[in-house]
Amino acid sequence: MKLPSLKIRNLESRFPVIQAGMGVRIGNSVLSAATIRLGGYGTIASVGLGDIEKSKTDFANESNRVLAEEIRKSRELAGGKKPLGVNIMVALSNYKEMVEQSVRSGVDFIISGAGLPIPLPEYVGNADVALIPVISSGRALNVLLAAWKRKFNRAPDAVIVEGPFNGGHLGFTLEQIDHPETCSLEIIFKDVKQVMNQMGYGNVPVLAAEMISCREDIERALAIGYNGVQIGTHFIASEEAGLDHRSKEVYVKARREDVTVIKSPVGLPVRVLKTPLVNRVLSGSREKFTCPYRCLRTCNPGKVPFCIAKALLSTWRGDVDNGLYMAGCNVEAIKEIYPLEKFFRSLED
Ligand SMILES: Cc1cc2nc3c(=O)[nH]c(=O)nc-3n(C[C@H](O)[C@H](O)[C@H](O)COP(=O)(O)O)c2cc1C
Repeated sequence: MKLPSLKIRNLESRFPVIQAGMGVRIGNSVLSAATIRLGGYGTIASVGLGDIEKSKTDFANESNRVLAEEIRKSRELAGGKKPLGVNIMVALSNYKEMVEQSVRSGVDFIISGAGLPIPLPEYVGNADVALIPVISSGRALNVLLAAWKRKFNRAPDAVIVEGPFNGGHLGFTLEQIDHPETCSLEIIFKDVKQVMNQMGYGNVPVLAAEMISCREDIERALAIGYNGVQIGTHFIASEEAGLDHRSKEVYVKARREDVTVIKSPVGLPVRVLKTPLVNRVLSGSREKFTCPYRCLRTCNPGKVPFCIAKALLSTWRGDVDNGLYMAGCNVEAIKEIYPLEKFFRSLED
């Protein structure tokens, strides 16, 4: 089977693949540009980009400055090729500023989840930017799209469905995560399609984000009816991903039984690897930290057991003892640190 291209709004890629915007600094200018060159949608993660010292006194402006720089670099590395987008989590305290900066920097699409991105169309205004919400149920999508229609007369340009096995934050209760058969990608697809058809968005692409490691996984998602996929975990160990090689090795060595779910300071469950930090948190201890800048609206620094910004920066740096390693249930499929080209070659006919 020849894999179809992926059309979203006025954008198109050779392969039906979006590279997930993975924070902190994993989905950066280098990974996004490589993805675009190889035939996918490249995404820069907007979280945690600023210089740490400068962010302490001027968090919003410093974050904007580095995001603009990353977008510029990615465009340059991709030779101006599209589609380049950003991932902006609703839970960020500088959500509005990140969206407005992305629009000023001329991105092609914005992916937004970790909460319902209700004000996104307002912040984007009339700019020609594809809006792609991330959801985990038809019910949440219905609430979001009804609000977009009522308040802004705006439809989504694509929708990403995250399943219960995916890496990072999860839009499910712990009970649902214990019973993934109740919220599988097949079940959510039916609900999502019903909502989209009812609202007159039957032709808008719907993408699956969960456990995609190879061409066969993409074909399985397409067979359910999805128009394409978003890939996170499997791209972390690519040479182009923006984290230290010591952290990439953690992902290469990880096995299925190393994957667990803990409560994240973001306020959602998060799927991670059982590394030293997670083991300490699971045994009830609290890490010492002072909140350098309030990066999340939803975090209570006085109560949470660790600082997620600090932990993800440790992962980026290769500090395995103190890092937080978000990963999906397909992590075991990562066998080596590999050039991204190897993955995209395997999608060719
Ligand atoms: C290390 C890591 C970092 C992530 N960072 C973000 C993020 O900053 N924003 C976001 O919306 N999703 C984030 N995600 C979720 C991904 O966007 C994506 O939906 C998910 O990884 C897809 O499932 P998979 O990991 O099974 O491929 C992250 C996932 C991982 C594994």
